[in-house]
Amino acid sequence: MRKKQTISSLQRLKGVEKLSMITAYDSLFAKIFDGEVDLILVGDSLNMSFRGENDTLSADIGVMLYHTKAVCNGAKNTFIVADMPFGTYTNREEALQNAIRFYRETGADSVKIEGGVEREETIRHLVENGIAVVGHIGLMPQSFRSEGGYFVKGKDEESREKVLQDALAVERAGAFMVVVEGVKEDLAREITESISIPVIGIGAGKFVDGQVLVWSDMLGFFEEFKPKFVKRYMSGGSAVREAVQNYNREVKSGEFPEEENIY
Ligand code: KIV
Repeated sequence: MRKKQTISSLQRLKGVEKLSMITAYDSLFAKIFDGEVDLILVGDSLNMSFRGENDTLSADIGVMLYHTKAVCNGAKNTFIVADMPFGTYTNREEALQNAIRFYRETGADSVKIEGGVEREETIRHLVENGIAVVGHIGLMPQSFRSEGGYFVKGKDEESREKVLQDALAVERAGAFMVVVEGVKEDLAREITESISIPVIGIGAGKFVDGQVLVWSDMLGFFEEFKPKFVKRYMSGGSAVREAVQNYNREVKSGEFPEEENIY
């Protein structure tokens, strides 16, 4: 098991070694992932993959605190980032009060906030008050309804400039790391080379400082569809289905329980 990363060790690795981040939503899986990756993200993507909702927007602070606490209980040796849910950082005071709840009520090491230029003041306020912040720019899932879907960013000059300015704003505000989602690879590269904090990509190509994937996507438990940027490292859904089918068959046939399972 590797040693738990800190903000400075993560930052020192920029340009030296790629950083790996995976989401986790519960203690059971967090324990399995613990020490195997550099960071765990308690992403509000859990609202889709765990709760079956269409988007992240209905995950409220209670939901995110509950799951973050569970993940922290399971992963004691991994740096944990918790997503601040939609509607919990509409102004800097609200953001600070809610971020403090993540620190007080869970063991999260930092919080993640979507938005660039428009969140600069908020991020700065959190950082000034002792909260470690990860930014999230490019495709921002919490804008799903206001934008009418998920759209790759950086396809034209205006969009490129907007995402680049967002990256600079997040860095200026004092975030120690930024997630860049759903952008053209050359833009992600330009951002990575333009800022001094680590850039973690998802759907942002190779030329970033690290990668993040949603665990249920990369382990093949989420089967409805596979976004282009996802690589499946196992077929979790079919493996579990097969095991459950075997169990069902053995219960019906009386093969289970076996001698070793009986008191
Ligand atoms: O909620 C989440 O899982 C995320 C990742 C997609 C970066 O924000």
